[in-house]
Amino acid sequence: MKGLLLDNYAAVSEYAATLVEEQVRGNAQSVLGLATGATPLGLYENICNSFEERGVSYKDVRTINLDEYLGLERTHPESYYTFMNEKLFKHIDLAIENAYIPDGKPSSVGEECVRYDKILDCIGPINLQILGIGTNGHIGFNEPGTNSNSTTHIVELTPSTRKSNAHFFQSFEEIPTHAITMGIKSILKSEKIILLASGESKAEAVKTLLSKQVTERFPASFLWNHDNVTLIVDRDAYQLVELERQ
Ligand code: GLP
Repeated sequence: MKGLLLDNYAAVSEYAATLVEEQVRGNAQSVLGLATGATPLGLYENICNSFEERGVSYKDVRTINLDEYLGLERTHPESYYTFMNEKLFKHIDLAIENAYIPDGKPSSVGEECVRYDKILDCIGPINLQILGIGTNGHIGFNEPGTNSNSTTHIVELTPSTRKSNAHFFQSFEEIPTHAITMGIKSILKSEKIILLASGESKAEAVKTLLSKQVTERFPASFLWNHDNVTLIVDRDAYQLVELERQ
């Protein structure tokens, strides 16, 4: 795992965007793996700017999102489909039919998992996967305890994850209890992975990750088993590692 320590969230977002831009300029038909949450918002803003200002085109790019809340229609304001559309897709020239996100309200959840794995097999491998990290070390919605061999599956969200995402919902009860997520095995099939971590709330998770102990209890640690991961972290998220080294 390579690491890059930058001053703040703006620098993390800007740098991550240059890597995405480089990927798309190098291969106009790139497959990008995308994440949701607060962390990649700055990255998506920069991608929108690079589209407008530097003419990077996404018209032949395909995107595969990590996860979706179970029980939310695409049109729900807090679905990850709506999130991606509002924050990125509608601002760039990506063909919406080339954007894949699990269906949060499928007629059969089992069949939806199989369908999503088929999509990954058909259009993968993902050339560049963007990841954030949960405070409990989750990647996608792979919560602690997830097997490294996992493919797309249904997860019960931990109370801490539901709490972390509470600010997006009106009340705690509205936060979905389950989600559908790409598995660890599928994530690790990506050619390159960028893991973003910003802010004090991620400091403990970054410290645990950098202890290099690979364990199901901390799913992001499986990234140590991949040979092309870049961790881009800001000072606030790195502070506990720095303290330890002093
Ligand atoms: C969310 C998403 C993850 C995201 C993580 C961190 O629940 N499912 O893909 O990386 O949790 O979220 P945030 O960036 O808001 O801290």
